[in-house]
Amino acid sequence: MAKKTTTAKRKRRFARTRKARPINFDKDAIYLENVYDPRSFHHIQTTCDRIQTMQPDPKAQGRLMHILETTHPLIPEIFSPTLINTVRRITGNPRLSPCPQVPPEYRIYNPGSFMHWHTDQQMLPDQKQYECVITLRNTSDSKTLLDYPKGIKSLRTKPNSLLVVRAKGIRHSVMPTTKGSRSILKVVFSEPSP
Ligand SMILES: [Fe+2]
Repeated sequence: MAKKTTTAKRKRRFARTRKARPINFDKDAIYLENVYDPRSFHHIQTTCDRIQTMQPDPKAQGRLMHILETTHPLIPEIFSPTLINTVRRITGNPRLSPCPQVPPEYRIYNPGSFMHWHTDQQMLPDQKQYECVITLRNTSDSKTLLDYPKGIKSLRTKPNSLLVVRAKGIRHSVMPTTKGSRSILKVVFSEPSP
């Protein structure tokens, strides 16, 4: 009984935090916390922790990466109805779906790693595209920087958060990590052409 009460309390707390309004950066970049159910998030976190086949990432200095095959058992859990509905809701675009041509990537930023200022490229010219960063763990001192006309905003992304950036949208970068590490999943959503 005691366990049931604890679970009910946890679910109520989760429901409250999920209703929290996202920080909406003019729809060019949107940041939201407490995305997945805690139990599901813990399973995604620990499954990714066990990935051994990390490779140096040519797209960012010092970053390690692993592409998840389309048959990876974690794929349905990553693209859960919760994530899909959250991305559609916070972007205001109900037509967005996981982009079948771009597989999810697991990435780790260790000390020395960073990402230069850039604008995300639209990989599929006829589709609206959004890059989604799901932070799994973050003990690093690094911050994500977003270049707004009124100035640069910095963000320390928390575990179980989601940062959505529109392709050909806002310039952004990742500051060099000097201590700790940050692990993320990068997934792409797109709106198929009519
Ligand atoms: Fe990017």
